[in-house]
Amino acid sequence: MFRNLGLRTLLLLLVFLRGVATALINPILPGWNPDPTILRVGSDYFIATSTFEYFPGHPIYHSKDLVNWKLIGHALNRPSQLSMLGTPSDAGVWAPGLRFHRGWYYLTSTTRYVYTAELRLFPRSFYVKTQNIFSNNWSDPVYFDALGYDADLFWDTNGDVYNTWSGINNAVDKIYGIWQNKIELETGNSLTAAQLIFKGTLPNNSSARPEGPHIYFINGTYYLLIAEGGTGNEHRATIQRGPSPSGPWENNPANPVLFNGADLSLPVQATGHADMVQGTDGRWWGTALAVRPQGGNFDHQQLGRETFLYPILWKDGWPVFNNGDPLSTHLPGVLADISPLSAYTNQFNSHTLDQTFYFVRTPYKTFHSLTAQPGFLRLLANAYAPGDRDSAALLLRKQTSYSEEFETQLFFRPQSNLTEAGAGIYYGDTMHNEIGIVGDTEGSGARWVVVRTVGAAGMKTQSFSLKTPDEPVRLKIVAKPTSYALGYAEGAAAEFNFPVTIDSSALTIPPPGGFFFKGAAFSVYSTGNGKPSLALADFAYWRQTPTTS
Ligand SMILES: *[C@@H]1O[C@H](CO)[C@@H](O)[C@H](O)[C@H]1NC(C)=O
Ligand SMILES: *[C@@H]1O[C@H](CO)[C@@H](O)[C@H](O)[C@H]1NC(C)=O
Ligand SMILES: *[C@@H]1O[C@H](CO)[C@@H](O)[C@H](O)[C@H]1NC(C)=O
Ligand SMILES: *[C@@H]1O[C@H](CO)[C@@H](O)[C@H](O)[C@H]1NC(C)=O
Ligand SMILES: *[C@@H]1O[C@H](CO)[C@@H](O)[C@H](O)[C@H]1NC(C)=O
Repeated sequence: MFRNLGLRTLLLLLVFLRGVATALINPILPGWNPDPTILRVGSDYFIATSTFEYFPGHPIYHSKDLVNWKLIGHALNRPSQLSMLGTPSDAGVWAPGLRFHRGWYYLTSTTRYVYTAELRLFPRSFYVKTQNIFSNNWSDPVYFDALGYDADLFWDTNGDVYNTWSGINNAVDKIYGIWQNKIELETGNSLTAAQLIFKGTLPNNSSARPEGPHIYFINGTYYLLIAEGGTGNEHRATIQRGPSPSGPWENNPANPVLFNGADLSLPVQATGHADMVQGTDGRWWGTALAVRPQGGNFDHQQLGRETFLYPILWKDGWPVFNNGDPLSTHLPGVLADISPLSAYTNQFNSHTLDQTFYFVRTPYKTFHSLTAQPGFLRLLANAYAPGDRDSAALLLRKQTSYSEEFETQLFFRPQSNLTEAGAGIYYGDTMHNEIGIVGDTEGSGARWVVVRTVGAAGMKTQSFSLKTPDEPVRLKIVAKPTSYALGYAEGAAAEFNFPVTIDSSALTIPPPGGFFFKGAAFSVYSTGNGKPSLALADFAYWRQTPTTS
């Protein structure tokens, strides 16, 4: 009787037959999508998130129903907007703010080009704007004057424009606070001196970290929503209200309005960096970032900070986030959602790469082609390799499920022991793992499979000989909640060998001085390991399949 029904209809029918109440499934943007900001214009909802040293920067997601989200482009997709050359891992673009005013969409952002203890090199923020958010064509940056990050634009009813951001008192005490001034919108220039408008609700020390401010004017009252406690387990959202965009602020007695850190056994943690939006039907919704440590182990949160959604109700002039309950992965009775996860296959038959792929840093020039060998993704190697603080021929797509398989097929005839191409599971310069094909002494034609793991434990390399000089090799990475297995199969019919399995904490625990701000992505790459390479690397498909385990 179900023969003529589509899979989705069938699932809906099963949900209906079982009498299961509908539930919103979080995260709504699975895979790393930190610092979400949400906006509604008419019947369209938009979310933007952070991308750090990945290029292009700041994905824009679109939805009509808050459940089904589609990537429609990136705010920073030209070198004139974002030129990351040698930018350290986890610097790059931070925490966007998405707003709409008189026909223009504005996206505020911060680009951190360097990491140094020198306060004056603390980043400077800016906005880009567009009248058509679907055009994927935003303006060049208009810079503000202030030092700091998490910039927020607010238009007061009298036309004054406020920039509000997270700033720091000095490079020694590192006491953060919420700073603000009025600006001239066109130029970003300051019209008033910067003012410290809020110190946060936590004790005055360097871990309080008030940040991520958003100002709202709702029913005649101004609200200041911020994140506090740093982006780890102490992360939270708090809200204040007052008679002006600058306060003075009255503390919400129910603060924090979002905080899962009081119970570290909850499966969702580090909740915060919230934003709010009113829906088309008048109901309010909030977004926040959160992590999902696997099996209660905080070292196993390799998907990083993802975007969550929850309802907001108002009581006595204060917003109540998610009924005052901790944030979770299923919100029964809220909206309707079957599962946001689906398999992704790209046979590389299109002439352009779809927008879910990323580079690391701004490529100097194009190193991929979908037309040189029709039906294949061809990578043209340069001298850089994955992990170099530069722009290797490396393409990434986010891991979206804690259990997921990634497979590709590589046609590659290396020309020496320097020419190498393959696949991997990547975090950043200091945490990445590859399984690739590499050559032998120049001219020998012999090939090896090389498995390289790089992380806090250092670099480890293992090699396994291949039988032929030219058979295609399938490469596969099997992601489980606490591990990754890296495998290969030579020839079309061979079984996979998985010679190396790593603990997923290899992607979350950086070496000293490093950060964990992003999350895991699958990769393909080609490199000349310090020299140009003429060896062509052709990938036949990209397949990402969420699994259940
Ligand atoms: C992008 O926008 C700018 C400024 O509005 C315009 O000059 C340019 O032609 C647009 N580019 C594309 C590809 O639409
Ligand atoms: C917070 O701490 C800093 C540095 O210790 C100090 O300069 C400042 O006066 C303190 N502020 C408050 C309100 O205690
Ligand atoms: C800041 O104060 C909190 C609460 O007293 C404390 O837990 C934390 O360790 C302090 N951080 C620093 C850097 O002193
Ligand atoms: C705004 O005020 C109206 C009328 O008092 C009330 O119905 C509504 O709930 C208020 N909205 C918010 C967000 O407080
Ligand atoms: C690569 O091959 C060259 C000779 O072509 C040899 O001198 C060099 O030691 C080899 N390097 C490695 C890492 O095997």
